[in-house]
Amino acid sequence: MDFQNNAIGVFDSGIGGLTVLKAIHESLPHENLIYFGDTAHMPYGDKSADLIAHYAEGITKFLLEKNCKMIVIACNTASAYGYKKTMETAGNDIIVVNVVDPSVDLIVNDYAAAKIGVIGTKGTINSGIYKRKLTKANKTLEVVSQATPLLAPMIEEGYFNNKISRTIINAYLSKKSFKEIDAILLACTHYPLIKKEIEEFYKGHTRVIDSAETVAQTVWRVLTRKDLHARRKGVGTIKAYVSDLTPAFEKSTEIFFNQKISLEKINIWT
Ligand code: DGL
Repeated sequence: MDFQNNAIGVFDSGIGGLTVLKAIHESLPHENLIYFGDTAHMPYGDKSADLIAHYAEGITKFLLEKNCKMIVIACNTASAYGYKKTMETAGNDIIVVNVVDPSVDLIVNDYAAAKIGVIGTKGTINSGIYKRKLTKANKTLEVVSQATPLLAPMIEEGYFNNKISRTIINAYLSKKSFKEIDAILLACTHYPLIKKEIEEFYKGHTRVIDSAETVAQTVWRVLTRKDLHARRKGVGTIKAYVSDLTPAFEKSTEIFFNQKISLEKINIWT
C-alpha cells in the first residue's frame, strides 16, 4: 500500500482533541484518521512535564504501530511538554504537528503592537510557551495569560451554553489583566465548544481564536509540501481509541465530534 494512504494519527489527553480531528476531517475528507484519547490519564493540565512526555512517547509508539504517516498532537499541554519526545520517538520520516506553532504563526501574521490574551490549562500557561514564542517572534506583542482550570472539566461535564458556564467564563475573563485585549487565544482543545460564549462576552470587540482550523490548515499544507495527500477518492475512515471508557465519555464524544463516533478501549501501557 502507498505510504500516502496511511492514516494521520491524532492524540489528546481525552476527547478535547476531537475538535481538531473534526476540523482535519472536514478539510481533508479523503484521509484515514486514527485518534487516541488518553482518557485514563486525563487531565494532563495538572501533570508534571516528565509524565506528559512519557505519555506522549507511549501514544506515539502506538500510532507508529498503526503505520501513521503523520502525528498531530491535538493537545496544548502535550504540545508544550511532549513535542520533543514525540518527535524523537517518531523519527525523521514521520512529521509531527503540534497545536502551538500554528496559532503562534497566525497571531504573528495578523498582529503587531497588540495585546493578546491566552487561556489554557495550568500546564500550558505555566510552561510559558505561548508568551515565549509570541514575544520572541514579535517584541511589540504584549501577551497576558491566565490558567483557566475549571473550563475543561466544566465542558466535559456538558456544562456550556448555560448560566453556570457564563458565570465561570465571566469570572475568568473579567480579570483586570485581560482588559482591552485585541484577541484571545483559546489554548486548549476543549475550548472551541465555548467559543460562542466567549465571543458573546466580548460582544464582537475582541477576536476569539481557536486552534482547530488553523491546525487543520497546517496539516493540509504539510501534506501538500511533502506530497503526502491520500490517493483515495472516497471518504477516509475514522477510528478512535481511548485508554479508559465510560458511558459519559461515549456521550461527550458526540458533542465534541458533532456526530456519532465509536470508541475502542485499548491498554497501550501493558
Ligand atoms: N485538551 C487539553 C489541552 O489542549 C486539555 C485537557 C487536559 O487538561 O487534559 O491542553
